Amino acid sequence: MTPGIRPLIAGNWKMNGTLASALRLAEALRSAAMSATPELLVCPPFLHFQPVAAALLGSTIALGGQDCHHAASGAHTGDIAAAMLRDVGASHVILGHSERRSDHGETSAMVRRKCEAALAAGLVPVVCVGETEAERDADQAEAVVARQLLDSLPPGFATAGGIVAYEPVWAIGTGRTPSEAEVAAMHGMIRNTVVQAHGDGGRATRLLYGGSVKPGNAAGLLALPDVDGALVGGASLVAEDFLAIARAVPAG
Ligand code: PGA
Repeated sequence: MTPGIRPLIAGNWKMNGTLASALRLAEALRSAAMSATPELLVCPPFLHFQPVAAALLGSTIALGGQDCHHAASGAHTGDIAAAMLRDVGASHVILGHSERRSDHGETSAMVRRKCEAALAAGLVPVVCVGETEAERDADQAEAVVARQLLDSLPPGFATAGGIVAYEPVWAIGTGRTPSEAEVAAMHGMIRNTVVQAHGDGGRATRLLYGGSVKPGNAAGLLALPDVDGALVGGASLVAEDFLAIARAVPAG
């Protein structure tokens, strides 16, 4: 953790569930969520967003989208604007997830425009970066992530409270994670890059780790320097697992 930064445990529900299962998950989180230490965020599929928001109304759990368009409105069939998310109660939006980058060809330049749109709409962007396995094997992981940060984060990102999620592509949904030393080294590099590019505001930027975070490995990962929380995929679909990860945040 970084002293002075409130940790965040974020759940990325991706394209999973039915409306009924989403509501069951929301109810289970709502009744068990602690008001204390880590902030909790869930990012349901767009279709389930409003019912989940209604189920979480009055709780301390924040809501986010999984993507948004870079334009404020207009002829973009199938897309969602940042202001639409904000209008239905989102406070955050995940941008540049590696699945968006690979499934939809999103480049860092596109992520930056989406990020600008999110900031303009008053949403906190959660920008994902991370290397592929081939890039890590070629010793390019830090260079790739630094480039993604410089190209994806617009001016004003840090002062607006923007969040970075480091998610090695090869660790997502695979049950594999980098070693704690590798995560610590990468997060230190991310901190330095954000501070160099965005000034002292970057010292308060929350840096999440994501990729196969589970109740069993969360405590070790969350205790690392410059790891200020987690972005959780698979384990966020099981209320007890997500809450166990939240409880693994070190005290103080
Ligand atoms: P995972 O996904 O926890 O299932 O590995 C993480 C993510 O993609 O955000």
